[in-house]
Amino acid sequence: MPVGIDDMAIYVPKLYIDYKDFAEARGIDPQKLEYGIGIKKMALADANQDPASMAANACMRLMKNNDLNPQDIGRIYVATESGLDESKAMNSFVIGMLEQVYGESTLEHAGGIECKFACVSGSYALYDNTNWIRAGESNDKAAIVIVSDIAKYDIGSAGEYTQGAGAVALLIKENPRLLSFDEKVTSTIIKNEYDFYRPIGKETPLVNGLYSNLLYLIQVRKALETYKEKAIKSGIIKLGNDESIIDHIDYISVHLPYRRMGEKALAYLLRHEWRHLSRWEDIISEIGTDEPLPKDPRGTIESILADTDFMKADEKFRREFMKTKHYKEIFDSKMSSSLQASAVIGNLYTASMYMGLRSLLEFEFLKGVDLFNKRIGFGSYGSGCSAMVFSGVIQENYKDLVKRMNLEKDIGQRTKISIKDYEILHKNTRKYDEAFLNAEDEFILINIGGTTADRAGFREYCYAS
Ligand code: CAA
Repeated sequence: MPVGIDDMAIYVPKLYIDYKDFAEARGIDPQKLEYGIGIKKMALADANQDPASMAANACMRLMKNNDLNPQDIGRIYVATESGLDESKAMNSFVIGMLEQVYGESTLEHAGGIECKFACVSGSYALYDNTNWIRAGESNDKAAIVIVSDIAKYDIGSAGEYTQGAGAVALLIKENPRLLSFDEKVTSTIIKNEYDFYRPIGKETPLVNGLYSNLLYLIQVRKALETYKEKAIKSGIIKLGNDESIIDHIDYISVHLPYRRMGEKALAYLLRHEWRHLSRWEDIISEIGTDEPLPKDPRGTIESILADTDFMKADEKFRREFMKTKHYKEIFDSKMSSSLQASAVIGNLYTASMYMGLRSLLEFEFLKGVDLFNKRIGFGSYGSGCSAMVFSGVIQENYKDLVKRMNLEKDIGQRTKISIKDYEILHKNTRKYDEAFLNAEDEFILINIGGTTADRAGFREYCYAS
């Protein structure tokens, strides 16, 4: 029985900052942002928006688009790393908002939790809900997994140009119209790391940028190794002589803290997959130099980072590799469409890879490609750290859903704000009743806390029609 994504809906706040304004304010070359990072517009949550309201808005769109009633839904999970409460789960806020529209207690029969593991938790939530349906526990009801985040870094930090905000809601069902997950191939890896973390009470993360980039690559590659074994064992992929697993995967969708990271992840995975195949000779002759080797053959993250000569040579080689015709061909055909949304929205943490999936479907469809039966491989990464590699196959009825996907229309009329206004929002000095935009047909935050101590931290929302 195939189980997977039946439909998906997105919510992106309409405020944004433009990369040229940002570059000027911070004294950065705009080309670095446009090409080195791959960002043109960063979506920003308004003063009356938070990860719960964005999650509820994405969920409401999903329900409306599919004429779903609360009775059709058995579980609502929210995966986020922008938690609003140390105990109360974000999905309970979402349930509260939805019940304002659908009626009191209409979702009482459902279940769910808030999931946390940096940017990878949405993938765990999808996997768990898929298995809940596969196990026959769903009583013919669907699950909704919402990934929602505000990526916020310190002003002036290197992470500041990898911010963004938004949510994606995914409908998980039997016989899905969009994508069926491959069974018995999902592979995970987990390790105690401090590449990116946010201690309790701190709004912005502490990040070791270079370390987090390298860790992401190493962990996704390790999870891919296990995926490979499982995919061959389960029989979904038969690897011929001189072939790589990536030859058998039509599209690759990875975690996208920023667009360029997707490009670099593809380069890293391809180098590992290809260096033992005959095509490598061609690649090396096109680059004109051998691939550098680290001094320590164990290749641990610590030994690689300590080997500064290797790091420099390897970065140079990686840039040359990304110019080769072999890389470009795979990038254009298997990844580029998934990166388009990231460049105009920015980082969505848990939602980044799923916005990438949405982008892939929309922009490949616009190219006129027949997507039926195409396999998508996913490389999900969460700092701290864990990676998950899994795959799914696009289903026959995908066109009915993909033809109505329109990123620009779904985001809506956007408003650019100045860097000064962005900084005011960043400092949280503007309160929920001082939003820049008038909300229409969406949930917004209308109050935090009450006049009495027993209502401290209460968050109230309403549907602004
Ligand atoms: N024109 C064109 N390109 C330029 C340029 C110019 N004038 N100047 C620099 N560049 C290029 C650089 O060559 C580099 O390209 P390559 O990656 O191809 O080498 C790119 O711009 C980035 O420049 P730097 O290497 O100088 O990097 P930076 O100091 O700007 O930092 C960053 C980049 C590490 C990603 C930083 O933004 C950061 O710390 N971000 C937060 C952490 C993060 O996103 N980590 C990712 C993995 S962890 C994760 O994914 C979890 C999560 O979601 C947070």
